[in-house]
Amino acid sequence: MEDAVLTLKKWIDESDNVVFFGGAGVSTESGIPDFRSVDGLYNQKWKYPPEEILSASFFERDPAEYYRFHREKLVIDGVKPNRAHLRLAELEKEGHLRAVITQNIDGLHQAAGSKNVLELHGSILRAYCSRCRRPYPAEVINHGEGVPRCSCGGVIRPDIVLYEEPLDQDVMSKALHYIRQAEVLIIGGTSLNVYPAAGLIRYYRGNKLALVNLSATPYDSFADLVIHQKIGELFSRI
Ligand code: APR
Repeated sequence: MEDAVLTLKKWIDESDNVVFFGGAGVSTESGIPDFRSVDGLYNQKWKYPPEEILSASFFERDPAEYYRFHREKLVIDGVKPNRAHLRLAELEKEGHLRAVITQNIDGLHQAAGSKNVLELHGSILRAYCSRCRRPYPAEVINHGEGVPRCSCGGVIRPDIVLYEEPLDQDVMSKALHYIRQAEVLIIGGTSLNVYPAAGLIRYYRGNKLALVNLSATPYDSFADLVIHQKIGELFSRI
């Protein structure tokens, strides 16, 4: 195994305080495209730019078009956790990993068995009425046709953070706590382009920050270890 992978394995084996911070690149090996890679969601052709569709003002203006995009592009039936999700759940069980902090909305970390998962951008596996906030099962939004409506008449929406919306403060403060206290911070499968999520890693105070990403990120120079490899492959070896 290359030195960097050996070092990362050693850091993890010797720690009971590892925290993982991840993004869409963790789920690509499960068949879910990421956002900014060449074949990512934001580089795919759609009636409007996907980053515009995934905004609160667009959802308000044209929920029918939002839901066409949501069901076509965000909901991928039959996806399963990959080796990265599964190994992270094992590391939690073995007492090495304390929390998974994810920008992903696919629920695959929980499906892999991870218990302590902080979803900075929410989840498409939860839905609620945008008017009365009554909770609804996910199939109401992820399958079917047209704009799902609540008995109060409000539009039912996914429990995700759309552009222009704030992140959940409780989730953010928990994520901050784990990152501040972490002995080992592993960042994986994220371009670290989107704030405030990406800004959280500035609160890490240790000297064992590993960045596992296929492409370079603005934080590579900030990391103590950089591994440009497929994260599922890497996690199957540590
Ligand atoms: N292994 C390692 N890295 C990978 C893999 C893989 N198998 N597949 C993709 N990557 C890397 C890509 O090189 C890219 O740098 O993962 C990164 C994914 O970056 P983005 O597509 O920008 O996704 P992410 O960082 O999660 O985006 C953050 O942007 O639009 C918002 O809310 C959305 O949560 C998302 C946020």
